[in-house]
Amino acid sequence: MTEARLDYRVAPGGVFHGRLRVAGDKSISHRAVMLGALAEGVTRVTGLLEGEDVLCTLAAFRAMGVTAEGPEHGRLTLHGVGLHGLRAPRGPLDMGNSGTAMRLMAGILSGQQFDSVLTGDASLSKRPMKRVSEPLGLMGARIDTAEGGRPPLKIAGGRKLRGIRYEMPMASAQVKSSLLLAGLYADGETAVTEPAPTRDHTERMLRGFGYAVTTDDATVRLRGGGRLTARDIDVPADISSATFFLVGAAISSGSELVLEHVGINPTRIGVINILKLMGADVTVENRREAGGEPVADLRVRGGRLTGIRIPEDQVPLAIDEFPALFIAAACAEGETVLTGAHELRVKESDRIAVMAEGLTRLAIAVRETPDGIVIQGGMLRGGEVDSHGDHRIAMAFAIAGLRAGAPITIRDCKNVATSFPDFVDLAKHAGLAVEEILV
Ligand code: S3P
Repeated sequence: MTEARLDYRVAPGGVFHGRLRVAGDKSISHRAVMLGALAEGVTRVTGLLEGEDVLCTLAAFRAMGVTAEGPEHGRLTLHGVGLHGLRAPRGPLDMGNSGTAMRLMAGILSGQQFDSVLTGDASLSKRPMKRVSEPLGLMGARIDTAEGGRPPLKIAGGRKLRGIRYEMPMASAQVKSSLLLAGLYADGETAVTEPAPTRDHTERMLRGFGYAVTTDDATVRLRGGGRLTARDIDVPADISSATFFLVGAAISSGSELVLEHVGINPTRIGVINILKLMGADVTVENRREAGGEPVADLRVRGGRLTGIRIPEDQVPLAIDEFPALFIAAACAEGETVLTGAHELRVKESDRIAVMAEGLTRLAIAVRETPDGIVIQGGMLRGGEVDSHGDHRIAMAFAIAGLRAGAPITIRDCKNVATSFPDFVDLAKHAGLAVEEILV
């Protein structure tokens, strides 16, 4: 039996109003589960994202003998087993749709005494894993991949790891984190240098768990052989999920929305910087700290946007936000030019190609380039677009409905549950006329 497909149908027009708190940060939630499982003692997490990606990570640790209560309403209690307390799983560990889960787990599993296998869904099975299997191999790990460095990953246990100095060829927090997590198990120092700043949640959380990590310019270092001490973690709301509401409000005049308790880690705020450069009215209010991460409330009011050339230094800081930012560009006056964003082609889908296809269907003039796109702002008409199973593409085209001339149907939206299970409820509450249709 084939599973029913979930589509969204969005009626045109509307504004966003009110205050809301979006789902917990996906990156921080993955790391909270991983470090909580590997710590000594009990870690209580609040605000956890109960999305499918994070649930895959949690299921993997349960399969390796970690006891956990929850998650329920974002609360999860993990009984850490210590860095050397995991047990061999009975079968392959399914990472679902999640590149973060697979790449970070590859680092952790490289340091175990037992063999393991990591698998994923159709999208994840096409994504490049050599970016972790090669440097982990330099550390002494043995990882067999399928053809072309794709999943599944077969990871040999009982390997002796040694620290390396590694200069990453791409700006990737997943690669950096994978090597740092393997470094916990390695002899000596692991040092990772990044070509541009990427999200630093792993470093922050390791320090929060009492592990010494130093950051010096673009290089992060730690030494193996330490231990993690359990602590409680309050996960902020995900700026990547908040983005759909930021952009939705920014493109629809008359909107005013406050997004509460959003993580504003400096390595994640490219979307705010880019929207402001486009002329959006976004203010950061009530700055505070939660669980070692800066948080704030974000207020956004609708208005006119102008096309810009997106500064390349903002690209890694907004890497997950481009599907929504392309909708902002489609609603802006003039041309928006993105360069230096080749990484978008290896996300849950090829986000440059898939967004270009959908925008073209909605009568927006776009030109793809190898590492970016040129978008000419215009009038979005209605029509049918395909998300190609990519959660962020589905949500981006949903908010496009606020400025469309006719209904938009978005095909294949079930993967929204990987990162933002209550997106539709919150979007309706804020003012979007979106319906879910099982086909
Ligand atoms: C993530 C890093 C980014 C991002 C992904 C989450 C993380 O990937 O796109 O959604 O949690 O470390 P890359 O490191 O591959 O850029």
